[in-house]
Amino acid sequence: MGPVKTRRKLLQNAAPVPRYTSYPTAQHFSARIGPAAYADWLGALPPRAKLSLYFHIPFCQSLCWYCGCTTKAAQRHDPVTSYLAVLAGEVAAVAARVPAGHEVAHIHWGGGTPNILTADDIRALNATIRGAFKIAQDAEFAVEIDPRHIEADQVAAFASAGVTRVSLGVQDFDPSVQEAINRTQSFDATKRAAELFREAGIASLNIDLVYGLPHQTRESVERTIEQVLTLDPDRIAVFGYAHLPARFSHQKLIDESVLPDVVERFGQSQRMARRLAAAGYVRVGLDHYARPRDALAAKPLKRNFQGYSTESADALLGFGASAIGQLPQGYVQNAVSSGEYAAKITSHGLATVRGLELTAEDGIRAFAIEKLMCDLVFSSAELICKFGAAALPIVEEADALVDSDREGFVERTADGFRVTEHGRPFVRTICSCFDAYLGQTPAQYSLAV
Ligand SMILES: C[S@@+](CC[C@H](N)C(=O)[O-])C[C@H]1O[C@@H](n2cnc3c(N)ncnc32)[C@H](O)[C@@H]1O
Ligand code: SF4
Repeated sequence: MGPVKTRRKLLQNAAPVPRYTSYPTAQHFSARIGPAAYADWLGALPPRAKLSLYFHIPFCQSLCWYCGCTTKAAQRHDPVTSYLAVLAGEVAAVAARVPAGHEVAHIHWGGGTPNILTADDIRALNATIRGAFKIAQDAEFAVEIDPRHIEADQVAAFASAGVTRVSLGVQDFDPSVQEAINRTQSFDATKRAAELFREAGIASLNIDLVYGLPHQTRESVERTIEQVLTLDPDRIAVFGYAHLPARFSHQKLIDESVLPDVVERFGQSQRMARRLAAAGYVRVGLDHYARPRDALAAKPLKRNFQGYSTESADALLGFGASAIGQLPQGYVQNAVSSGEYAAKITSHGLATVRGLELTAEDGIRAFAIEKLMCDLVFSSAELICKFGAAALPIVEEADALVDSDREGFVERTADGFRVTEHGRPFVRTICSCFDAYLGQTPAQYSLAV
């Protein structure tokens, strides 16, 4: 196939679609779900509910121009201190509503940059959480870390808090890329951060990389991978740059004329995938890679707002500004701005401003999409066994999808289909065929590759 045809095909198959960290996606949440619904849903959790807790820290030392996270640059520490006091208020309000017999199997601190917290802050937030919830002995505790700003006393505080995994943001080590994204980060600083955590006994290390950034080439991303491999991470996440300047205004500072086009993006992701496979990493879902010894490669996968995880819980409770929770009945989201979040927690205890109650059909589609994103399979037997005849229309949609596939993205199985290795980079596009909400409202999604 010539380059023009390749480009046209890729543009068709990589048309912007959601990342499916939830179904329906957050864009379809509405103000109909507020604190009263959240309080009811918390109260209706099973008596021995297994919980995951997510804490959002919406502050960074400086802003990277590519960033798509809900965060802001904090010039002083006072707003962080005030925010932590409000967060403690939310922890108390939520803990008072969950059943006494609950157990927390997974904790995640994300952001923003959780290591903007001082060692004292880390100890205090951990004590607040452990004082309010029953944390399982073997709970997983993951924290997102900006390696440019980590000191030994913070590492010691994370270790004594029980952190089991850290995720280091890297993105790219090439100086011209770093300059174009306003993120200067040496390999040595990153290596020092990895060593500090390992020496403190936090053995599990994830590294985040991004392709599709300004000035990146297949050769430059491969050079970054070579450097990252010397750190021997257990997991590597490789995200395609989501360029949405209308949604994240600081992305307007990115020079679009030096962004790789869709063919180059695809080439970069493929080059990284090949190099990581050669280094012995197992590809997990869409964009994660894990050492075969790592649970992510070995255990059944789940998908949630933090991406892929091995933890299945009855509910994921989100704390902090913009945090999203997932309960059996549906999704809830807190106020996005720290000011509105603080005002709501202070006055009502809960800060839910949007959400979505799942219909029976949403539940079936959510299950099918999660299976595709995690295991790359669609099983009509599993769907019918779980949901009965209500699943039949979705089974028919799957049949039609297999019949219409001209690219070899899927192959028929005894009771459905599986996504081929050729189709794996387009799994979001395949999932979008089951998305009943797509096109209902003007959307802003990133390229599928
Ligand atoms: C909360 S940050 C990680 C921790 C820390 N703040 C840092 O940057 O080192 C989460 C990750 O999201 C990814 N990310 C952020 N903005 C993105 C975008 N626009 N497109 C794709 N990935 C993005 C980056 O890989 C980043 O490491
Ligand atoms: S990538 Fe990380 S450090 Fe950079 S602005 Fe986003 S959250 Fe902050």
